[in-house]
Amino acid sequence: TNRTFTMIKPDGVENGHTGAILDKINAAGFRIVALKKTQMTTADAEAFYAVHNERPFFGELVEFMTRGPIIAAILEKDNAVEDFRTLIGATNPAEAAEGTIRKMYATSIGENAVHGSDSDENATIEGNFHFAGREQF
Ligand code: GTP
Ligand code: MG
Repeated sequence: TNRTFTMIKPDGVENGHTGAILDKINAAGFRIVALKKTQMTTADAEAFYAVHNERPFFGELVEFMTRGPIIAAILEKDNAVEDFRTLIGATNPAEAAEGTIRKMYATSIGENAVHGSDSDENATIEGNFHFAGREQF
């Protein structure tokens, strides 16, 4: 068993998809280790997405991720990182497989409804970015 980290991004929350997305996560066999509604500051988003800070879309990404509340969660399942990336689908919803969360709820490559960690190492870093140890069960 291992863990991944996810956020329902501001577009997903604004568009009223929080419940449906959590339902799909649950139905796919992920156990919720930690869960909250929060909003990232500019400094938070710049730090969280620091790996992308040279990319042309970085400013747009930070603006988007801070414009409203998100749902942050740590999830547990065997093969969590890979299985969650499969569940959410490709970054660009136009390329996401049928039935994936991004295919169903994302609106564009930037506003793509959910985040999923891309490695076990980043899952730990990202989970600890948003949650104290005593919030992780
Ligand atoms: P995350 O799970 O959010 O990390 O997405 P990802 O791993 O599928 O994609 P990646 O890490 O490459 O990019 C991080 C995020 O930056 C994406 O999810 C998008 O929200 C945003 N992004 C990526 N490419 C573009 C782009 O070309 N334009 C815009 N506006 N945003 C982008
Ligand atoms: Mg990524």
